[in-house]
Amino acid sequence: MLDINFKPFPILETEKLVLRRITKKDAPNLFAMRSNPEVMKYIGKPTAKTIKEVKDLIALMDNRIKANDGINWAVTLKTDDKLIGNIGLHRIVKEHHRAEIGYMLAPAFWNKGIASEAIEAIINYGFTKLNLHSIEALLDANNVSSKKLLTKFNFVKEAYFKENYLFEGKFIDTEVCSLINNK
Ligand SMILES: CC(C)(COP(=O)(O)OP(=O)(O)OC[C@H]1O[C@@H](n2cnc3c(N)ncnc32)[C@H](O)[C@@H]1OP(=O)(O)O)[C@@H](O)C(=O)NCCC(=O)NCCS
Repeated sequence: MLDINFKPFPILETEKLVLRRITKKDAPNLFAMRSNPEVMKYIGKPTAKTIKEVKDLIALMDNRIKANDGINWAVTLKTDDKLIGNIGLHRIVKEHHRAEIGYMLAPAFWNKGIASEAIEAIINYGFTKLNLHSIEALLDANNVSSKKLLTKFNFVKEAYFKENYLFEGKFIDTEVCSLINNK
Protein backbone atom coordinates (compact mmCIF):
# COMPACT_ATOMS: atom_id res chain seq x y z
CA MET A 1 0.00 0.00 0.00
CA LEU A 2 1.40 3.38 -0.96
CA ASP A 3 1.94 5.94 1.76
CA ILE A 4 1.29 9.30 0.12
CA ASN A 5 1.84 12.69 1.69
CA PHE A 6 1.47 15.88 -0.36
CA LYS A 7 2.64 18.07 2.51
CA PRO A 8 4.65 20.16 1.76
CA PHE A 9 3.10 20.63 -1.67
CA PRO A 10 5.59 19.46 -4.32
CA ILE A 11 6.40 22.37 -6.65
CA LEU A 12 7.97 20.95 -9.81
CA GLU A 13 10.27 22.81 -12.18
CA THR A 14 11.15 21.94 -15.75
CA GLU A 15 13.19 23.83 -18.31
CA LYS A 16 10.39 26.30 -19.15
CA LEU A 17 7.73 25.63 -16.51
CA VAL A 18 6.83 25.82 -12.87
CA LEU A 19 4.09 23.43 -11.74
CA ARG A 20 2.62 24.83 -8.54
CA ARG A 21 -0.46 24.55 -6.35
CA ILE A 22 -3.69 25.97 -7.77
CA THR A 23 -5.24 28.70 -5.60
CA LYS A 24 -8.48 30.72 -5.68
CA LYS A 25 -6.53 33.48 -7.48
CA ASP A 26 -6.32 31.14 -10.49
CA ALA A 27 -10.10 31.01 -10.80
CA PRO A 28 -10.38 33.55 -13.70
CA ASN A 29 -7.75 31.78 -15.82
CA LEU A 30 -9.12 28.33 -14.99
CA PHE A 31 -12.59 29.63 -15.85
CA ALA A 32 -11.36 30.97 -19.22
CA MET A 33 -10.14 27.46 -20.02
CA ARG A 34 -13.05 25.45 -18.66
CA SER A 35 -15.65 27.70 -20.28
CA ASN A 36 -14.00 27.31 -23.70
CA PRO A 37 -15.82 24.68 -25.85
CA GLU A 38 -12.61 24.06 -27.83
CA VAL A 39 -10.77 23.01 -24.66
CA MET A 40 -13.70 21.01 -23.28
CA LYS A 41 -14.54 19.26 -26.57
CA TYR A 42 -13.23 15.85 -25.43
CA ILE A 43 -13.43 16.22 -21.64
CA GLY A 44 -16.95 14.84 -21.32
CA LYS A 45 -18.01 17.49 -18.81
CA PRO A 46 -20.10 20.60 -19.47
CA THR A 47 -18.31 23.90 -20.03
CA ALA A 48 -18.14 26.04 -16.89
CA LYS A 49 -20.85 28.66 -16.78
CA THR A 50 -19.86 30.60 -13.65
CA ILE A 51 -16.69 31.49 -11.75
CA LYS A 52 -18.29 29.90 -8.69
CA GLU A 53 -18.25 26.46 -10.36
CA VAL A 54 -14.52 26.84 -10.93
CA LYS A 55 -13.92 28.06 -7.36
CA ASP A 56 -15.78 24.97 -6.12
CA LEU A 57 -13.58 22.81 -8.34
CA ILE A 58 -10.45 24.43 -6.90
CA ALA A 59 -11.75 23.72 -3.38
CA LEU A 60 -12.41 20.09 -4.36
CA MET A 61 -8.90 19.73 -5.79
CA ASP A 62 -7.50 21.24 -2.61
CA ASN A 63 -9.43 18.83 -0.41
CA ARG A 64 -8.06 15.91 -2.42
CA ILE A 65 -4.53 17.18 -1.88
CA LYS A 66 -5.18 17.54 1.87
CA ALA A 67 -6.60 14.00 1.96
CA ASN A 68 -3.59 12.72 -0.07
CA ASP A 69 -6.05 11.22 -2.57
CA GLY A 70 -5.07 13.15 -5.67
CA ILE A 71 -3.00 16.10 -6.79
CA ASN A 72 -3.38 18.84 -9.37
CA TRP A 73 -0.83 21.41 -10.43
CA ALA A 74 -1.22 24.76 -12.17
CA VAL A 75 0.95 24.84 -15.28
CA THR A 76 2.78 28.19 -15.40
CA LEU A 77 5.68 29.56 -17.42
CA LYS A 78 8.83 30.38 -15.46
CA THR A 79 8.52 33.91 -16.85
CA ASP A 80 4.88 34.40 -15.73
CA ASP A 81 3.00 32.98 -12.73
CA LYS A 82 -0.35 32.98 -14.61
CA LEU A 83 -2.13 29.60 -14.85
CA ILE A 84 -2.04 28.43 -18.49
CA GLY A 85 -3.18 24.89 -17.80
CA ASN A 86 -3.55 22.20 -15.20
CA ILE A 87 -2.26 18.70 -14.85
CA GLY A 88 -2.86 16.12 -12.19
CA LEU A 89 -2.75 12.60 -10.87
CA HIS A 90 -6.12 11.55 -9.58
CA ARG A 91 -8.01 8.39 -8.74
CA ILE A 92 -4.87 7.20 -6.95
CA VAL A 93 -5.36 3.55 -6.07
CA LYS A 94 -2.88 3.17 -3.22
CA GLU A 95 -3.33 -0.62 -2.97
CA HIS A 96 -2.28 -1.07 -6.58
CA HIS A 97 0.24 1.79 -6.96
CA ARG A 98 -1.81 3.20 -9.84
CA ALA A 99 -3.13 6.65 -10.71
CA GLU A 100 -4.90 8.41 -13.56
CA ILE A 101 -3.31 11.36 -15.32
CA GLY A 102 -5.37 14.30 -16.60
CA TYR A 103 -4.36 17.59 -18.22
CA MET A 104 -5.54 20.58 -20.20
CA LEU A 105 -3.92 23.71 -21.58
CA ALA A 106 -5.30 27.03 -22.81
CA PRO A 107 -5.34 26.93 -26.66
CA ALA A 108 -2.79 29.78 -26.96
CA PHE A 109 -0.26 27.33 -25.49
CA TRP A 110 -0.98 24.29 -27.67
CA ASN A 111 1.66 22.90 -30.05
CA LYS A 112 4.55 24.46 -28.21
CA GLY A 113 5.83 21.41 -26.38
CA ILE A 114 4.43 22.70 -23.06
CA ALA A 115 2.09 19.76 -22.45
CA SER A 116 4.95 17.37 -23.23
CA GLU A 117 7.21 19.10 -20.72
CA ALA A 118 4.53 19.03 -18.02
CA ILE A 119 3.61 15.38 -18.63
CA GLU A 120 7.22 14.28 -18.50
CA ALA A 121 7.61 15.98 -15.10
CA ILE A 122 4.43 14.39 -13.71
CA ILE A 123 5.34 10.88 -14.94
CA ASN A 124 8.75 11.27 -13.36
CA TYR A 125 7.22 12.53 -10.10
CA GLY A 126 4.63 9.74 -10.06
CA PHE A 127 7.15 6.98 -10.60
CA THR A 128 10.11 8.24 -8.56
CA LYS A 129 8.46 10.18 -5.69
CA LEU A 130 5.05 8.54 -5.32
CA ASN A 131 6.36 5.11 -6.21
CA LEU A 132 3.50 4.42 -8.62
CA HIS A 133 3.75 1.27 -10.67
CA SER A 134 1.41 2.39 -13.44
CA ILE A 135 -0.30 5.51 -14.73
CA GLU A 136 -3.46 5.34 -16.80
CA ALA A 137 -5.20 7.84 -19.03
CA LEU A 138 -8.84 7.72 -20.06
CA LEU A 139 -9.60 9.59 -23.21
CA ASP A 140 -12.34 10.22 -25.71
CA ALA A 141 -11.29 8.00 -28.62
CA ASN A 142 -11.52 11.03 -30.95
CA ASN A 143 -9.02 13.08 -28.95
CA VAL A 144 -6.15 12.87 -31.43
CA SER A 145 -3.90 15.48 -29.74
CA SER A 146 -4.09 13.75 -26.39
CA LYS A 147 -3.50 10.33 -27.94
CA LYS A 148 -0.45 11.64 -29.80
CA LEU A 149 0.95 13.07 -26.59
CA LEU A 150 0.42 9.82 -24.66
CA THR A 151 1.95 7.73 -27.45
CA LYS A 152 5.01 9.99 -27.40
CA PHE A 153 5.51 8.99 -23.75
CA ASN A 154 5.06 5.28 -24.54
CA PHE A 155 1.54 4.91 -23.16
CA VAL A 156 -0.06 1.90 -24.81
CA LYS A 157 -3.68 1.12 -25.52
CA GLU A 158 -5.09 -1.19 -22.86
CA ALA A 159 -8.77 -1.07 -23.55
CA TYR A 160 -11.37 0.39 -25.84
CA PHE A 161 -14.90 0.80 -24.60
CA LYS A 162 -17.52 1.29 -27.27
CA GLU A 163 -20.15 3.94 -26.58
CA ASN A 164 -19.71 3.57 -22.79
CA TYR A 165 -19.95 7.29 -21.95
CA LEU A 166 -23.14 9.26 -22.40
CA PHE A 167 -22.52 12.94 -22.80
CA GLU A 168 -25.03 15.53 -23.98
CA GLY A 169 -27.20 12.90 -25.65
CA LYS A 170 -24.36 11.09 -27.43
CA PHE A 171 -22.66 7.80 -26.53
CA ILE A 172 -18.90 8.24 -26.78
CA ASP A 173 -16.10 5.65 -27.15
CA THR A 174 -13.41 5.68 -24.45
CA GLU A 175 -9.84 4.53 -24.80
CA VAL A 176 -7.74 3.54 -21.79
CA CYS A 177 -3.98 3.87 -22.18
CA SER A 178 -1.34 3.07 -19.62
CA LEU A 179 2.31 3.37 -18.84
CA ILE A 180 4.06 0.85 -16.61
CA ASN A 181 7.09 1.77 -14.52
CA ASN A 182 9.60 -0.86 -15.56
CA LYS A 183 12.49 0.48 -13.53
C1 LIG B 1 -4.17 17.50 -25.07
C2 LIG B 1 -3.31 18.73 -25.07
C3 LIG B 1 -2.80 19.04 -23.68
C4 LIG B 1 -2.12 18.47 -26.02
O1 LIG B 1 -1.25 19.55 -26.00
P1 LIG B 1 -0.27 19.93 -27.18
O2 LIG B 1 -0.14 21.39 -27.17
O3 LIG B 1 -0.73 19.29 -28.45
O4 LIG B 1 1.09 19.20 -26.71
P2 LIG B 1 2.59 19.52 -27.11
O5 LIG B 1 2.74 20.89 -27.66
O6 LIG B 1 3.47 19.16 -25.97
O7 LIG B 1 2.90 18.45 -28.22
C5 LIG B 1 2.21 18.42 -29.44
C6 LIG B 1 3.06 18.88 -30.59
O8 LIG B 1 3.56 20.19 -30.39
C7 LIG B 1 4.73 20.38 -31.22
N1 LIG B 1 5.88 20.75 -30.37
C8 LIG B 1 6.49 20.01 -29.44
N2 LIG B 1 7.52 20.67 -28.90
C9 LIG B 1 7.56 21.86 -29.50
C10 LIG B 1 8.36 22.97 -29.36
N3 LIG B 1 9.38 22.99 -28.49
N4 LIG B 1 8.10 24.04 -30.13
C11 LIG B 1 7.09 24.01 -31.04
N5 LIG B 1 6.28 22.96 -31.19
C12 LIG B 1 6.50 21.90 -30.44
C13 LIG B 1 4.97 19.07 -31.87
O9 LIG B 1 4.34 19.02 -33.13
C14 LIG B 1 4.31 18.12 -30.88
O10 LIG B 1 4.11 16.87 -31.39
P3 LIG B 1 5.41 15.92 -31.56
O11 LIG B 1 6.20 16.02 -30.29
O12 LIG B 1 4.84 14.56 -31.77
O13 LIG B 1 6.17 16.41 -32.73
C15 LIG B 1 -4.10 19.96 -25.63
O14 LIG B 1 -4.52 19.68 -26.92
C16 LIG B 1 -5.31 20.31 -24.76
O15 LIG B 1 -5.19 20.96 -23.73
N6 LIG B 1 -6.51 19.88 -25.21
C17 LIG B 1 -7.76 20.17 -24.52
C18 LIG B 1 -7.92 19.38 -23.22
C19 LIG B 1 -7.80 17.90 -23.43
O16 LIG B 1 -8.32 17.34 -24.38
N7 LIG B 1 -7.09 17.25 -22.50
C20 LIG B 1 -6.82 15.82 -22.55
C21 LIG B 1 -7.94 15.00 -22.00
S1 LIG B 1 -7.58 13.26 -22.16
